[in-house]
Amino acid sequence: MTNLLDTGIRNARNVDRYIFGQGAIGELADIINLRRNTQKDQVVFLIDEYFEVCPSIVDQLPFEANDQLYYVSTQDEPTTFSVDKLTDEVMSNGDGDVCAIVGMGGGSVLDTAKALSNLLTNGGCASDYQGWDLVKVPGVFKIGIPTISGTGAEATRTCVMTNKESGLKLGMNSDHTVFDQLILDPGLTVTVPRTQYFFSGMDAWIHCIEALSGSYRNPVGDAFSTQAIDLCRDVFGDGNMRSDRNRAKLMVASYLGGCAIATSYVGVVHPFSAGLSVVLGLHHCEANCIAMMAMESFYPKEYREFIKFVEMNEINIRSGVCEGLSDSQFNTLFQSTIVHEKPLTNALGDEFRTVLTESRVRELFERM
Ligand SMILES: [Fe+2]
Repeated sequence: MTNLLDTGIRNARNVDRYIFGQGAIGELADIINLRRNTQKDQVVFLIDEYFEVCPSIVDQLPFEANDQLYYVSTQDEPTTFSVDKLTDEVMSNGDGDVCAIVGMGGGSVLDTAKALSNLLTNGGCASDYQGWDLVKVPGVFKIGIPTISGTGAEATRTCVMTNKESGLKLGMNSDHTVFDQLILDPGLTVTVPRTQYFFSGMDAWIHCIEALSGSYRNPVGDAFSTQAIDLCRDVFGDGNMRSDRNRAKLMVASYLGGCAIATSYVGVVHPFSAGLSVVLGLHHCEANCIAMMAMESFYPKEYREFIKFVEMNEINIRSGVCEGLSDSQFNTLFQSTIVHEKPLTNALGDEFRTVLTESRVRELFERM
Protein backbone atom coordinates (compact mmCIF):
# COMPACT_ATOMS: atom_id res chain seq x y z
CA MET A 1 0.00 0.00 0.00
CA THR A 2 1.27 3.45 -0.90
CA ASN A 3 2.31 5.54 2.06
CA LEU A 4 0.88 8.98 1.36
CA LEU A 5 1.74 10.52 4.71
CA ASP A 6 5.10 11.98 3.68
CA THR A 7 4.44 12.95 0.12
CA GLY A 8 0.78 13.00 -0.77
CA ILE A 9 -2.80 13.28 0.41
CA ARG A 10 -5.80 11.01 0.59
CA ASN A 11 -8.45 11.18 -2.12
CA ALA A 12 -9.61 14.65 -1.11
CA ARG A 13 -13.05 16.10 -1.66
CA ASN A 14 -13.43 19.86 -2.14
CA VAL A 15 -16.49 22.08 -2.17
CA ASP A 16 -18.19 21.49 -5.54
CA ARG A 17 -18.83 25.11 -6.49
CA TYR A 18 -18.18 28.55 -5.07
CA ILE A 19 -18.85 32.15 -5.96
CA PHE A 20 -16.63 34.87 -4.55
CA GLY A 21 -17.14 38.61 -4.62
CA GLN A 22 -18.87 41.63 -3.18
CA GLY A 23 -22.62 41.23 -3.76
CA ALA A 24 -22.37 37.49 -4.52
CA ILE A 25 -25.29 36.90 -2.14
CA GLY A 26 -27.49 38.17 -4.99
CA GLU A 27 -26.86 34.86 -6.80
CA LEU A 28 -28.60 32.82 -4.10
CA ALA A 29 -32.08 33.01 -5.66
CA ASP A 30 -30.91 31.53 -8.97
CA ILE A 31 -28.95 28.78 -7.24
CA ILE A 32 -31.91 27.80 -5.09
CA ASN A 33 -34.38 27.92 -7.97
CA LEU A 34 -32.33 25.29 -9.79
CA ARG A 35 -33.00 22.96 -6.83
CA ARG A 36 -36.74 23.54 -6.44
CA ASN A 37 -38.95 21.11 -8.35
CA THR A 38 -42.52 19.84 -8.21
CA GLN A 39 -41.72 17.01 -5.77
CA LYS A 40 -39.39 18.92 -3.49
CA ASP A 41 -39.68 22.66 -3.25
CA GLN A 42 -38.87 23.49 0.35
CA VAL A 43 -35.66 25.25 1.39
CA VAL A 44 -34.48 25.28 5.01
CA PHE A 45 -32.72 28.51 5.94
CA LEU A 46 -30.50 28.43 9.01
CA ILE A 47 -29.52 31.99 9.78
CA ASP A 48 -27.21 33.27 12.50
CA GLU A 49 -29.36 34.86 15.20
CA TYR A 50 -27.21 37.97 14.81
CA PHE A 51 -29.19 38.75 11.63
CA GLU A 52 -32.56 38.58 13.35
CA VAL A 53 -32.12 42.24 14.19
CA CYS A 54 -30.61 43.00 10.78
CA PRO A 55 -33.63 42.87 8.45
CA SER A 56 -31.73 44.55 5.60
CA ILE A 57 -29.78 41.33 5.01
CA VAL A 58 -32.51 38.81 5.75
CA ASP A 59 -35.11 40.66 3.65
CA GLN A 60 -32.93 40.11 0.59
CA LEU A 61 -33.08 36.32 0.95
CA PRO A 62 -35.30 34.47 -1.56
CA PHE A 63 -37.90 32.94 0.77
CA GLU A 64 -40.95 31.14 -0.60
CA ALA A 65 -44.12 30.50 1.38
CA ASN A 66 -43.37 26.83 2.03
CA ASP A 67 -39.77 27.37 3.23
CA GLN A 68 -38.56 26.92 6.79
CA LEU A 69 -36.54 29.61 8.55
CA TYR A 70 -34.62 29.09 11.79
CA TYR A 71 -32.46 31.61 13.59
CA VAL A 72 -29.63 29.59 15.08
CA SER A 73 -28.40 30.67 18.49
CA THR A 74 -24.64 31.07 18.65
CA GLN A 75 -24.58 31.55 22.42
CA ASP A 76 -23.34 27.98 22.67
CA GLU A 77 -21.50 26.05 19.98
CA PRO A 78 -23.42 23.14 18.36
CA THR A 79 -24.06 20.10 20.49
CA THR A 80 -25.35 16.71 19.41
CA PHE A 81 -28.48 17.65 21.39
CA SER A 82 -29.02 20.98 19.59
CA VAL A 83 -28.54 19.32 16.19
CA ASP A 84 -30.96 16.48 17.00
CA LYS A 85 -33.57 18.95 18.26
CA LEU A 86 -33.35 21.05 15.10
CA THR A 87 -33.51 17.95 12.88
CA ASP A 88 -36.71 16.82 14.64
CA GLU A 89 -38.25 20.25 14.10
CA VAL A 90 -37.31 20.36 10.43
CA MET A 91 -38.69 16.86 9.89
CA SER A 92 -41.94 17.60 11.64
CA ASN A 93 -42.34 20.66 9.39
CA GLY A 94 -42.02 18.60 6.21
CA ASP A 95 -38.62 17.02 5.66
CA GLY A 96 -39.83 15.02 2.67
CA ASP A 97 -40.08 18.29 0.74
CA VAL A 98 -36.62 19.71 1.52
CA CYS A 99 -34.59 20.32 -1.64
CA ALA A 100 -31.84 22.49 -0.16
CA ILE A 101 -30.40 23.79 3.10
CA VAL A 102 -28.89 27.25 3.34
CA GLY A 103 -26.53 27.89 6.28
CA MET A 104 -25.72 31.56 6.66
CA GLY A 105 -23.54 32.67 9.55
CA GLY A 106 -20.37 31.79 11.42
CA GLY A 107 -18.76 28.40 11.94
CA SER A 108 -21.47 27.19 14.32
CA VAL A 109 -24.26 27.87 11.84
CA LEU A 110 -22.33 26.36 8.93
CA ASP A 111 -21.55 23.25 10.97
CA THR A 112 -25.19 22.95 12.05
CA ALA A 113 -26.28 23.12 8.39
CA LYS A 114 -23.85 20.34 7.45
CA ALA A 115 -24.99 18.11 10.30
CA LEU A 116 -28.68 18.69 9.52
CA SER A 117 -28.10 17.86 5.85
CA ASN A 118 -26.49 14.52 6.76
CA LEU A 119 -29.15 13.60 9.31
CA LEU A 120 -32.11 14.29 7.01
CA THR A 121 -30.98 11.60 4.58
CA ASN A 122 -29.08 9.20 6.88
CA GLY A 123 -31.52 9.00 9.79
CA GLY A 124 -30.51 8.29 13.38
CA CYS A 125 -29.04 10.92 15.65
CA ALA A 126 -26.01 13.19 15.53
CA SER A 127 -23.85 11.13 17.89
CA ASP A 128 -24.16 8.09 15.55
CA TYR A 129 -21.92 9.91 13.07
CA GLN A 130 -19.27 11.50 15.32
CA GLY A 131 -16.07 10.06 13.94
CA TRP A 132 -14.49 9.25 10.59
CA ASP A 133 -16.48 8.18 7.51
CA LEU A 134 -19.59 7.03 9.34
CA VAL A 135 -22.07 8.96 7.13
CA LYS A 136 -23.43 6.47 4.59
CA VAL A 137 -25.22 8.50 1.90
CA PRO A 138 -25.04 12.10 0.61
CA GLY A 139 -27.01 14.65 2.56
CA VAL A 140 -29.53 17.19 1.27
CA PHE A 141 -27.96 19.76 -1.14
CA LYS A 142 -26.38 22.38 1.10
CA ILE A 143 -25.24 25.93 0.50
CA GLY A 144 -22.82 27.66 2.89
CA ILE A 145 -22.73 31.45 3.22
CA PRO A 146 -20.10 32.55 5.76
CA THR A 147 -20.70 35.90 7.45
CA ILE A 148 -17.47 35.90 9.49
CA SER A 149 -14.09 34.62 8.31
CA GLY A 150 -11.59 32.28 9.87
CA THR A 151 -12.93 28.94 11.03
CA GLY A 152 -12.70 27.35 7.58
CA ALA A 153 -16.01 25.57 8.32
CA GLU A 154 -17.05 26.51 4.80
CA ALA A 155 -14.30 24.28 3.35
CA THR A 156 -13.90 21.31 5.67
CA ARG A 157 -15.34 17.79 5.69
CA THR A 158 -16.41 17.98 9.30
CA CYS A 159 -19.00 19.72 11.48
CA VAL A 160 -17.84 20.04 15.07
CA MET A 161 -20.35 19.19 17.79
CA THR A 162 -19.92 18.66 21.50
CA ASN A 163 -21.55 15.60 22.98
CA LYS A 164 -22.28 16.75 26.53
CA GLU A 165 -22.89 13.20 27.74
CA SER A 166 -19.56 11.80 26.58
CA GLY A 167 -17.63 15.10 26.78
CA LEU A 168 -16.53 14.42 23.21
CA LYS A 169 -16.01 17.38 20.86
CA LEU A 170 -15.94 15.69 17.48
CA GLY A 171 -17.54 16.17 14.09
CA MET A 172 -19.01 14.04 11.32
CA ASN A 173 -15.78 13.63 9.36
CA SER A 174 -17.03 12.60 5.95
CA ASP A 175 -16.90 13.54 2.27
CA HIS A 176 -20.68 13.89 2.53
CA THR A 177 -20.22 16.75 5.02
CA VAL A 178 -18.57 19.03 2.43
CA PHE A 179 -20.78 21.87 1.14
CA ASP A 180 -22.15 21.53 -2.39
CA GLN A 181 -22.09 25.28 -2.95
CA LEU A 182 -20.52 28.30 -1.24
CA ILE A 183 -21.32 31.94 -1.60
CA LEU A 184 -18.32 33.95 -0.41
CA ASP A 185 -19.43 37.57 -0.18
CA PRO A 186 -17.04 39.85 1.75
CA GLY A 187 -19.84 42.42 1.99
CA LEU A 188 -21.45 40.17 4.61
CA THR A 189 -18.61 40.59 7.13
CA VAL A 190 -18.79 44.38 7.32
CA THR A 191 -20.74 44.39 10.60
CA VAL A 192 -18.60 41.84 12.49
CA PRO A 193 -17.41 43.38 15.80
CA ARG A 194 -13.63 43.92 15.77
CA THR A 195 -12.70 41.56 18.61
CA GLN A 196 -14.75 38.73 17.15
CA TYR A 197 -13.30 39.49 13.73
CA PHE A 198 -9.79 39.15 15.17
CA PHE A 199 -10.45 35.95 17.15
CA SER A 200 -12.12 34.30 14.21
CA GLY A 201 -9.49 35.41 11.70
CA MET A 202 -6.76 34.09 13.95
CA ASP A 203 -8.36 30.63 13.73
CA ALA A 204 -7.34 30.51 10.05
CA TRP A 205 -3.81 31.63 10.88
CA ILE A 206 -3.53 29.11 13.75
CA HIS A 207 -4.74 26.23 11.54
CA CYS A 208 -1.93 26.98 9.13
CA ILE A 209 0.94 27.58 11.56
CA GLU A 210 0.01 24.33 13.31
CA ALA A 211 -0.14 22.43 10.02
CA LEU A 212 3.22 23.79 8.84
CA SER A 213 4.88 22.95 12.18
CA GLY A 214 3.67 19.36 12.18
CA SER A 215 5.23 16.17 10.89
CA TYR A 216 2.34 15.05 8.62
CA ARG A 217 3.29 17.35 5.80
CA ASN A 218 2.59 17.31 2.08
CA PRO A 219 3.06 19.86 -0.68
CA VAL A 220 -0.68 20.43 -1.17
CA GLY A 221 -1.40 21.21 2.48
CA ASP A 222 1.77 23.31 2.69
CA ALA A 223 0.71 25.39 -0.32
CA PHE A 224 -2.73 26.12 1.16
CA SER A 225 -1.18 26.98 4.54
CA THR A 226 1.56 29.21 3.18
CA GLN A 227 -0.84 31.24 1.06
CA ALA A 228 -3.38 31.61 3.87
CA ILE A 229 -0.65 32.77 6.28
CA ASP A 230 0.52 35.39 3.75
CA LEU A 231 -3.03 36.70 3.44
CA CYS A 232 -3.43 36.80 7.26
CA ARG A 233 -0.17 38.76 7.54
CA ASP A 234 -1.52 41.30 5.04
CA VAL A 235 -4.75 41.61 7.02
CA PHE A 236 -3.48 41.69 10.61
CA GLY A 237 -0.24 43.53 9.95
CA ASP A 238 -1.90 46.36 8.08
CA GLY A 239 -3.31 48.58 10.83
CA ASN A 240 -6.83 48.44 9.37
CA MET A 241 -7.74 44.77 9.50
CA ARG A 242 -11.38 45.39 8.53
CA SER A 243 -10.92 47.44 5.36
CA ASP A 244 -12.89 46.22 2.31
CA ARG A 245 -9.75 44.76 0.82
CA ASN A 246 -8.71 43.02 4.04
CA ARG A 247 -12.16 41.53 4.62
CA ALA A 248 -12.01 40.05 1.13
CA LYS A 249 -8.52 38.67 1.79
CA LEU A 250 -9.52 37.16 5.12
CA MET A 251 -12.50 35.43 3.52
CA VAL A 252 -10.11 33.75 1.08
CA ALA A 253 -7.61 32.95 3.87
CA SER A 254 -10.38 31.26 5.84
CA TYR A 255 -11.33 29.07 2.89
CA LEU A 256 -7.69 28.17 2.15
CA GLY A 257 -7.03 27.48 5.83
CA GLY A 258 -10.00 25.09 5.84
CA CYS A 259 -8.53 23.33 2.78
CA ALA A 260 -5.16 23.19 4.57
CA ILE A 261 -6.47 21.30 7.59
CA ALA A 262 -8.48 19.00 5.33
CA THR A 263 -5.17 17.83 3.86
CA SER A 264 -3.08 17.87 7.06
CA TYR A 265 -3.58 18.21 10.82
CA VAL A 266 -3.57 20.93 13.43
CA GLY A 267 -1.17 20.80 16.39
CA VAL A 268 -0.99 21.70 20.09
CA VAL A 269 -3.17 24.84 20.14
CA HIS A 270 -6.44 23.22 19.06
CA PRO A 271 -6.40 20.40 21.66
CA PHE A 272 -5.85 22.93 24.47
CA SER A 273 -8.52 25.15 22.98
CA ALA A 274 -10.91 22.18 22.89
CA GLY A 275 -10.20 21.61 26.61
CA LEU A 276 -11.19 25.21 27.36
CA SER A 277 -14.37 24.82 25.31
CA VAL A 278 -15.42 21.56 26.94
CA VAL A 279 -14.72 22.59 30.55
CA LEU A 280 -15.33 26.36 30.51
CA GLY A 281 -17.68 26.65 27.54
CA LEU A 282 -15.39 29.16 25.81
CA HIS A 283 -16.02 29.66 22.10
CA HIS A 284 -13.55 28.03 19.76
CA CYS A 285 -11.90 31.12 18.28
CA GLU A 286 -11.49 32.99 21.56
CA ALA A 287 -10.29 29.79 23.25
CA ASN A 288 -7.62 29.41 20.54
CA CYS A 289 -6.31 32.91 21.25
CA ILE A 290 -6.30 32.29 25.01
CA ALA A 291 -4.46 28.99 24.47
CA MET A 292 -2.00 30.67 22.09
CA MET A 293 -0.83 32.91 24.96
CA ALA A 294 0.67 29.82 26.67
CA MET A 295 2.24 28.29 23.54
CA GLU A 296 5.60 30.06 23.46
CA SER A 297 7.57 26.88 24.22
CA PHE A 298 5.93 24.95 21.34
CA TYR A 299 5.73 27.72 18.74
CA PRO A 300 8.26 30.44 19.72
CA LYS A 301 8.44 32.27 16.38
CA GLU A 302 4.68 32.07 15.79
CA TYR A 303 3.99 33.17 19.38
CA ARG A 304 5.96 36.37 18.75
CA GLU A 305 4.05 37.05 15.56
CA PHE A 306 0.76 36.42 17.36
CA ILE A 307 1.68 38.94 20.06
CA LYS A 308 2.51 41.44 17.31
CA PHE A 309 -0.95 40.95 15.75
CA VAL A 310 -2.62 41.33 19.17
CA GLU A 311 -0.78 44.54 19.97
CA MET A 312 -1.09 46.07 16.54
CA ASN A 313 -4.86 45.56 16.50
CA GLU A 314 -5.27 46.50 20.20
CA ILE A 315 -7.02 43.27 21.13
CA ASN A 316 -7.51 42.28 24.75
CA ILE A 317 -7.04 38.53 25.33
CA ARG A 318 -8.60 37.37 28.59
CA SER A 319 -6.20 35.89 31.12
CA GLY A 320 -6.61 33.91 34.34
CA VAL A 321 -9.49 31.88 32.89
CA CYS A 322 -8.46 28.76 34.83
CA GLU A 323 -7.97 30.55 38.15
CA GLY A 324 -9.74 28.82 41.04
CA LEU A 325 -10.57 25.61 39.17
CA SER A 326 -10.70 22.44 41.26
CA ASP A 327 -8.33 19.48 40.86
CA SER A 328 -11.12 17.53 39.25
CA GLN A 329 -11.74 20.33 36.73
CA PHE A 330 -8.02 20.42 35.90
CA ASN A 331 -8.19 16.67 35.41
CA THR A 332 -11.10 17.08 32.98
CA LEU A 333 -9.12 19.80 31.17
CA PHE A 334 -6.21 17.38 30.88
CA GLN A 335 -8.41 14.53 29.61
CA SER A 336 -10.21 16.66 27.04
CA THR A 337 -6.87 17.95 25.73
CA ILE A 338 -4.93 14.71 25.59
CA VAL A 339 -7.76 12.88 23.82
CA HIS A 340 -6.83 14.66 20.54
CA GLU A 341 -4.21 12.14 19.54
CA LYS A 342 -3.87 12.92 15.83
CA PRO A 343 -3.00 16.62 16.16
CA LEU A 344 -0.80 15.99 19.21
CA THR A 345 1.08 13.23 17.40
CA ASN A 346 1.42 15.54 14.40
CA ALA A 347 2.96 18.22 16.62
CA LEU A 348 4.97 16.23 19.16
CA GLY A 349 5.34 12.69 17.82
CA ASP A 350 4.05 9.34 19.06
CA GLU A 351 5.44 9.97 22.53
CA PHE A 352 3.46 13.18 23.05
CA ARG A 353 2.29 11.93 26.46
CA THR A 354 5.83 12.12 27.79
CA VAL A 355 5.86 15.84 26.92
CA LEU A 356 2.29 16.60 27.91
CA THR A 357 2.20 15.08 31.38
CA GLU A 358 -0.74 15.95 33.60
CA SER A 359 1.36 18.43 35.61
CA ARG A 360 2.75 20.12 32.48
CA VAL A 361 -0.72 20.45 30.98
CA ARG A 362 -2.03 21.93 34.24
CA GLU A 363 0.85 24.39 34.35
CA LEU A 364 0.05 25.53 30.79
CA PHE A 365 -3.65 25.98 31.58
CA GLU A 366 -2.69 27.98 34.70
CA ARG A 367 -0.80 30.36 32.41
CA MET A 368 -3.87 31.09 30.27
FE1 LIG B 1 -10.04 26.01 14.44
